Amino acid sequence: MSTQKSSDRPSKITTQTVVDMKAKGEKISMLTAYDFTMAQIIDQAGIEIILVGDSASNVMAGHETTVPMTLDHMIYHTSCVVRGVDRALVIADLPFMSYQVTTKEALISAGRMMKEAGAHAIKMEGGKPIAGTVKKIVEAGIPVMGHLGLTPQSIYKFGTYKVRATEEQEADDLIRDAKLLEEAGCFSIVLEKIPAELAARVTEELSIPTIGIGAGGGCDGQVLVIHDMLGLNKEFNPRFLRRYADLNSVMTDAVQNYIKDVKSKDFPNEEEQYGG
Ligand code: KIV
Repeated sequence: MSTQKSSDRPSKITTQTVVDMKAKGEKISMLTAYDFTMAQIIDQAGIEIILVGDSASNVMAGHETTVPMTLDHMIYHTSCVVRGVDRALVIADLPFMSYQVTTKEALISAGRMMKEAGAHAIKMEGGKPIAGTVKKIVEAGIPVMGHLGLTPQSIYKFGTYKVRATEEQEADDLIRDAKLLEEAGCFSIVLEKIPAELAARVTEELSIPTIGIGAGGGCDGQVLVIHDMLGLNKEFNPRFLRRYADLNSVMTDAVQNYIKDVKSKDFPNEEEQYGG
């Protein structure tokens, strides 16, 4: 049972909170999580938004892309995260092909994510082609975060994870798409791996917040994949990534010390076992 008085508890973050933060010029922090324990740590540390990203496909399931993720996988991860969170806004990715075929299917997918997983909002990749669907989902009462620039669900169309929208036409299309998503009712948009000047321009032209990953300091907030920023992955070294810890080394040392102690019979000792 919680011993905190309700007046002492930090107030819950809502979609309106993050829109208001932009208006006040306050930066928004967002990280991914995919399980109960990690979500609890991040929430208690004070993060504003937790994204249950379909990057779970890479960091949890070991796939090369996000394409294999299913709606049931995402509902499972999201429900685990929701149980660990008290304050943060929990946003769940709708996975590839759970919203692109028909608006009806997208509404059903978004509804399942809210009802079965307990997500507070959903995220969808793409601009003009999905704007009509976004509008319907928002009208149904489900908050939507957009995602433009490098959209990993379309990796087989792009063929590469290189920076997007470096050419004028693609940059113009991205600005148009961002405005369309705002008009459709998105409360925020992720901008992934685009030039910093373009991201800053989009951020200035929208009244909803932009959350950048590899999109420079001009965005209203930033997001990183938790495994990357904690240094659990050694191989992934994009320019935009700042590592805040080296948990790969910490964990390797811990496991090696445990192995050594088991082999040398140092573990368990007298205090670590039960008497008859
Ligand atoms: O799936 C994910 O983790 C994401 C972030 C990188 C924005 O979409």
